[in-house]
Amino acid sequence: MKTLVLANQKGGVGKSAVATLLAHYFRKLGCRVLAIDLDHQGNFSDPLRKSQRVAVAEVPASALLTQTSPVIPSADFVLVAADQDLSGLERQPSLQNAFANNLRVFLKAMEARFDVCLIDTNPNPDIRMIAALVSAEFVLSPIQLNQEALDGVHALLNHHRVGVRKIKTMLNPKLHLIGLLPVMVEANPFQRENFLQLVQKFHPILIPYGTKPGQYASMPRRSAVAEAQAEGLVLWEMKKTAARDAWREIEVAMVVIAKAVLDGAQTQTTPITPINGADHGPVAG
Ligand SMILES: Nc1ncnc2c1ncn2[C@@H]1O[C@H](COP(=O)(O)OP(=O)(O)OP(=O)(O)O)[C@@H](O)[C@H]1O
Ligand SMILES: [Mg+2]
Repeated sequence: MKTLVLANQKGGVGKSAVATLLAHYFRKLGCRVLAIDLDHQGNFSDPLRKSQRVAVAEVPASALLTQTSPVIPSADFVLVAADQDLSGLERQPSLQNAFANNLRVFLKAMEARFDVCLIDTNPNPDIRMIAALVSAEFVLSPIQLNQEALDGVHALLNHHRVGVRKIKTMLNPKLHLIGLLPVMVEANPFQRENFLQLVQKFHPILIPYGTKPGQYASMPRRSAVAEAQAEGLVLWEMKKTAARDAWREIEVAMVVIAKAVLDGAQTQTTPITPINGADHGPVAG
């Protein structure tokens, strides 16, 4: 089982929407999928539940951290849904090692039952995100093309608790950053400029595709994506032409991410171009 965490401390950047698309996409590829929603907002749980394609576990996601042997249904597409107790875990510091350990042991026990485990996280750098990142093999970070997000890439890699590079060095050497995925991309000059900046500064941690250099996976802003997310629909099965067009644009990113997860990905060691003259060292990957 390959475990992929969607993580970015920035809120509202598209983590849950990408997680949902990936869950359905891995099913389309015939994978057995375990979906875990560690965000009490439930924006990964709701669309999957509404899609009526998942077996929803009786145990809530908080139980994967608080219990030693939680039981989930036997099915090829299982959701362990978000619950409100998730937001209280951070307030129990003496139990945090146990929380991370419980999740790791649970995921280990699921190894043979699923091909892919997708974990959606909350936008706070708390124990839920740490527990997910210390147990996972892959992390994917959706980001938006605004200045604030570009400035946030450093924290995403180096945050003292949940920075991908920090976790990789201190707690989980097998963690691989699949990359930054620009999402909700709009065809305006402002975003084009920010994309160029992102490529310039962070191309080693973007997700290349195709044979030509300089092509990086991204997802456009399309109302059909928000609609699919709100209604629990599967984007490529929606009748509207706009949804089919959106899927055609998004499929490239899904293909390359799924391939990285299923084939395993090479560890990246390329240094990032320093931002503002500071040396950020090798990229976590
Ligand atoms: N490609 C897209 N095109 C249009 N709307 C999108 C796209 N991706 C996400 N959205 C919408 O943007 C909003 C925020 O997305 P989402 O909930 O996935 O972000 P998030 O990073 O999970 O947020 P949080 O940090 O609160 O968990 C949602 O309404 C979602 O449907
Ligand atoms: Mg979310």
